[in-house]
This record gives sequence, structure tokens and C-alpha cells, in this order.
Amino acid sequence: MKIVKTLLELRSARATFTGSLGLVPTMGYLHRGHLSLVQSARAENEFVAASIFVNPAQFESVDDLDDYPRDLERDLDLLDTHNVDLVWAPDRSEMYPHGYQTYVTVNQLTSGLEGGRRPGHMRGVTTIVSKLLIAFRPDRAYFGQKDAQQVCVVRRLVADLGFPVEVVTCPTVRESDGLALSSRNARLSVDQRQASTVLFRALSAASVAFAEGQRDGDKLCGLMSDVVATEPLADARYIAITEVETLQDLRQLPEQVLASLAVCIGQVVLIDNMVLGET
Ligand code: PAJ
Repeated sequence: MKIVKTLLELRSARATFTGSLGLVPTMGYLHRGHLSLVQSARAENEFVAASIFVNPAQFESVDDLDDYPRDLERDLDLLDTHNVDLVWAPDRSEMYPHGYQTYVTVNQLTSGLEGGRRPGHMRGVTTIVSKLLIAFRPDRAYFGQKDAQQVCVVRRLVADLGFPVEVVTCPTVRESDGLALSSRNARLSVDQRQASTVLFRALSAASVAFAEGQRDGDKLCGLMSDVVATEPLADARYIAITEVETLQDLRQLPEQVLASLAVCIGQVVLIDNMVLGET
């Protein structure tokens, strides 16, 4: 596995790949969720690359950025054992050189959910993903359904700017009690870890009600909100039922909808989602 730091090194390593390339963008502190993306990329491409970069542009606060867990050595070992060919782990100054002022924005899709609550977050994501697609020129790029809005926004970005890449969405990997794997889970205390299953419990309750014919979006949100309210350590940031691709609010619910929520557990904000009505 080749590990590079600079854009120039990345370009020359990329030039040696003659077959299809799959890219897995990450912010490191890898878990089985990230590795499932690597496995899909490995199965579908001749070469696999990953990036590890904790992107300051997508964090709202310096504290959140500083608190983000990091373990580069361990990440590189994991990627090596998963047969990754190339890793780019640039420094901040390599990604955002002195005087940096170019950003990519996707408008409407970023206005609600995470984008609505975290000003600048989605702009940070779309900017870094654009930079990664330009630098790696992958044939396929892999994203997790765990960050449903992110993958919708990336699909829009790729279509709008005509990036020659196929965006592949991979299913959310969960712990046995339903908690979606996330690098942020490492920051939960034992009690908070127990409380964190409330996101999956809320989504499961909505999923059951939807399967039983509930088509009132407010009622589904109310149901999720009631479940979250049973957990004293949890505080809902938002709970939404939206269209799956446009992320628009819905009056009349179609056969498939996206249920998503963000919940604060202490200082940690966890997000999760489920497509209701998925066969
Ligand atoms: P990060 O949070 O490190 O996640 C990297 C990729 O792993 C994302 O596509 C995310 O959706 C996916 N992922 C995370 N947890 C997952 C899980 N439990 N199951 C399946 N996939 C999961 O998302 C980012 O980094 C950044 O925004 C990035 C795209 C790298 C841009 O900076």
C-alpha cells in the first residue's frame, strides 16, 4: 500500500493505475462502516484508494474539530489489511493552501436536516469531495447511507458539475443493538452508549408504523419524538420525514420516505436514518 501526503505524490501514484479506480473518502478513525465501503470498492474495481483528512471546512466549531478522534497509524494498518492500494493523508496546508478561497455549494438540498443545523457544513463537504474527485479521478466513489443527506448532495454535485464518476451508496453498518457505527461513538460514556440506541429504536418504531399503513408524516415524527423523549440523556435536534432523493418535506407520503434524526447525547451529536418502505 502506497501512502502519500502531497498532491504531487498523489498524481504520480495515480498515474501508475491502468484499470478502474474506486475511492473511499474518510476522515479517519476507521470502523467497520468505513471498511464496508472499502470492501465494496475492492470487489468492484481493479484499484482502491482511500483518503484520510479531518476536513476543517465542514466543522462548525474549533472545539468539535479538535475533539474529533484521530489514529492515523491504526487507520493505515486497517487499510493495508483490507488491500487498499493508495492512501492520501494530506496536511491541512496541502488541502487548503495559504490564501484559500474557492468553495463549491449545492443550494436547495443542503438547506434542511444536517445542512440546516450546521451552517457551512455541507459547503465544506461539497468542497472537499470536489477536490478529492479532481485529485484522484476515480471511476467510482463510495459513500455510506448513514449520512443520507451527504450522499444525496454528492450525487447532485456530481450530476451538476459532470464529474465522470459513479457514486455508490453502501448500507449503514450497525452494532448488534442497532447503533449506527460512527467515529463519534468513541466519545460516549457507558451510560450515554446505552442511551444512544434510542435513535435506532425511534427509527424502528416509525418503520413499523409505516409498514402498518401510517402515512401521516407528522404522526410518524411524533412517534419518533416520543421514543426519544423516553431517554433522559437524549435531546432531539431534529426529526424529519422527507422525500428520499430531494429531501423535501412531504404532505402525502409516497411508498418510500426517508426518516432521519439527529440527537444530542451529552456533547455528542449522533445522526441516523432509515428508508421506510424499502423492500
Ligand atoms: P466519515 O465520517 O469518516 O465517513 C466516511 C464515509 O463512511 C462516509 O461516506 C460515511 O457515510 C461512511 N460511513 C460512516 N459510518 C458508516 C456506517 N455506520 N455504515 C456505513 N457507512 C458509514 O463522511 C465523511 O467522513 C466526510 O464528510 C467525507 C465524505 C470524508 C468528506 O470529508
